[in-house]
Amino acid sequence: MTEELTPIDRAKYASAHCAADFVQDGMRVGLGTGSTAAWLVRRLGARVRQEGLRILAVPTSTRTAQLAREVGINVVSLDEARWLDLTIDGADEFDAELTLIKGGGGALLQEKIVATASDQMIVITDAAKEVKTLGAFPLPVEVIPFGWQATQALVEEVLSSLDVMGRQSSLRMNGAQPFMTDEGNHILDLALGRIGNPRQLSLVLNQIPGVVENGLFIDIADQVVIGHADGTCELRDLTSGTPETSQRRVDLGEASNIFSDI
Ligand code: 5RP
Repeated sequence: MTEELTPIDRAKYASAHCAADFVQDGMRVGLGTGSTAAWLVRRLGARVRQEGLRILAVPTSTRTAQLAREVGINVVSLDEARWLDLTIDGADEFDAELTLIKGGGGALLQEKIVATASDQMIVITDAAKEVKTLGAFPLPVEVIPFGWQATQALVEEVLSSLDVMGRQSSLRMNGAQPFMTDEGNHILDLALGRIGNPRQLSLVLNQIPGVVENGLFIDIADQVVIGHADGTCELRDLTSGTPETSQRRVDLGEASNIFSDI
């Protein structure tokens, strides 16, 4: 079975399974979106069914909500949960300070709201997403549909005075139609190449009328679990001031070849 998973899928599986062990009985948990988060949701579903784990889960997208319900997880809204103990989510890029680019799956707005309303955020990822400087992955920016082209022009204009390499942006498409987020918004993907000052970029982007939120997650994530294709995972914890690293291995034999591409 596991030989049918690609090395990246095995790494994502390992990361998600390691991180699932941080979820304890009685917790209110934010569930991320994406293929790595889908492994997490399936694993938590298995723990609910097999161990009787009791959690209240707040999904970050309709896709994750549907999967969570399918695997038997108790799903509530963020307003019902009010505050969360822990959010576990994937990322598109991360650096040494755990600044993230997120939104490759188009769920960045709910993901940022949910992660920010949590005591702790754990990022689940494979090693290929670690970068020295963010920006190779296009930065997703959620914009409202009204006047989106004027918003795009303003975004590109402000980029000229910021510490980035490129300033091309493109409207994300879903076939022939603009991609729609769960909130009914569009996504601009910014091909920046290199983001020299993520904090400044995030502040400036969010001041533009029409921009709802951007995919930079700054000072939100506390820990990262980096999965590897051999089933090992490495936990890096930034909460203590000096980063602490530990390693463990998960049983890849449990992985099915169902690709959880949500
Ligand atoms: C969705 C996200 C995802 O976490 C990110 O795109 C990573 O996805 P994957 O785990 O499939 O690689 O931000 O909006």
